This record gives sequence, C-alpha cells and structure tokens, in this order.
Amino acid sequence: MSVPREIRNVALAGFMGVGKSSVGRLVATELQFEFVDTDEVIESRTGVKIAEIFTRFGEEAFRKFEAELVAEMSGWSGRVISTGGGLVVNPENLANLKSHALVACLWASPETIYQRTKHQSHRPLLQAADPLENIRVLLAAREAAYKQCDVLVNTEQRSVREIALHVLHNYRAAVQQPPRM
Ligand code: S3P
Repeated sequence: MSVPREIRNVALAGFMGVGKSSVGRLVATELQFEFVDTDEVIESRTGVKIAEIFTRFGEEAFRKFEAELVAEMSGWSGRVISTGGGLVVNPENLANLKSHALVACLWASPETIYQRTKHQSHRPLLQAADPLENIRVLLAAREAAYKQCDVLVNTEQRSVREIALHVLHNYRAAVQQPPRM
C-alpha cells in the first residue's frame, strides 16, 4: 500500500562517515530549517553516549530508541534530520520518514569511509580488529536499503557545498519550489 506523502522536511541517510552532519547543517542553513541529528537527540534524552548505549543495553535497545524517535517525527516540519547510519535499514523507519521528508542517502566507497573514520572512536560498530572489512560487510548488507531512499548522492570527489546543493535541488523539486542560487 502506498502512503500519501507530504514533504515538509529533509532527511539524510547513509553510512557512518559519509558527511550527513556537515551536509545537513548546510542544507538547514540554506532552507532556514532546524538541524536535528538523531544520535544527538537519543544521547540528550537518555543522558548516555551512543557507544555506551551499545555496551550497556545492546544494539537492539538503541534501534528501539531510533524507531521511537522516528515515530515522533510525523508531526515535524521545517527540519533537516541527519539519521544514524543504520536507521533506514529498518523499512518501517524509512517508510515513516518518507511520509514527511525527502530522504537523501549519501554514498561513499568503503575505502573513503575508512579514511574518514579511522581516527574516530565514538562509533561502536567500527571498533573492530579490521574496521575496513567491517565497513565493507556492513555497507554491502545495507546497500539495498540505502537504495530505497528518494535520492542517492555520491559524495566522492565532491565538496560538502556541492552535495548540499544537490540535496537542495532535489528537495525544491519535490516541493516544487523554484530553484535559487
Ligand atoms: C550507526 C551509525 C551511527 C550511530 C550508531 C550506529 C550505524 O551514526 O547511529 O553508532 O548503525 O551505522 P552515524 O552514521 O551518524 O555515525
């Protein structure tokens, strides 16, 4: 069954390290929307860092927090929502997002993602003996889900600004706003 869509927000999906937050902040500035990062909301509501949620309560509990937050978003408007890398893997989350947001998925190769994330330690799923292999396996497992988003944006060799403009263009087309420079 197809659900009617009323696009009032922009959602950014995609793997860890593809630049959702940087792009999202720029898109939000351009549209004069509020920027929201799902991980930040979960951390501020629970008072617990994402990595600690994983170790103390497990990934399943984290996915539940994500789904609860997504369910709340249906009344939102004028927001750019940067989603955690695994959020749209749950088809129900993606369907909910699509009901009110244009969902753009940012894409990068495993090697690029590895280069961008290798010095960071806040992502539990990348704290592995061989993070690059982990990225390859997880990205391959998620590829089909990411491809269900409205727009797939290759971030390789493109600046944050170029990617943001591409997302903006797609958002304006979706809500039929005239494009602006
Ligand atoms: C995750 C991505 C992270 C965070 C959590 C799980 C994932 O968000 O939600 O560590 O499953 O890919 P970012 O994509 O913002 O790093």
